[in-house]
Amino acid sequence: MSNDQDRSVPKIVALEVLEKNGVNVQRLIELIRKGVGAEFTTYYYYTILRMHCTGLEGEGIKEIVEDARIEDRNHFEAMTPRLYELGGSLPRDIREFADQAGCPDAYLPDNWQDINSILKVLLEAEQCAIRSWGEVCDMTAGKDPRTYDIAQKIMQEEVDTRHGLLSFCQKDPLVTLEESLLDNLHMLVNKVV
Ligand SMILES: [Fe+2]
Repeated sequence: MSNDQDRSVPKIVALEVLEKNGVNVQRLIELIRKGVGAEFTTYYYYTILRMHCTGLEGEGIKEIVEDARIEDRNHFEAMTPRLYELGGSLPRDIREFADQAGCPDAYLPDNWQDINSILKVLLEAEQCAIRSWGEVCDMTAGKDPRTYDIAQKIMQEEVDTRHGLLSFCQKDPLVTLEESLLDNLHMLVNKVV
């Protein structure tokens, strides 16, 4: 089914401009397809995680898990049109789509009653999404403003969600603040803000 991932796109001037700007459009399509795959599957897995946020501690993080869940669906919807504009497409078979997602599946942990185990899954998923969209930002900065803008907004939301989750792990506000500053510094160093 992979043959329908790469549409035969007539020479579009906008794509030629991107190539002239130094963007490897095929590689970009591949990265975006993996990224939106991760957003879509994470939306599914976060639904399961949210359902298991029970008890006093679970209720405490339920809202942020719900926000992250809806956010990932929105990320999928925000970037998918750009995938098509670039000449790419979603796999015809959702199984193939899930298999090529750019981040590991955010499985419900066996010991899900321990809320820290759920937080760990969420933090790792957010971290992977930040890396994944950071790569798209690096590739498009100064070369493909439209893709860059979408990826940068998505990545900023992932960073904010990660900070929200960290505040549940760290009871010391200074530690959370330091993490936040480190993330922003990392983004500046990578020229993605
Ligand atoms: Fe996301």
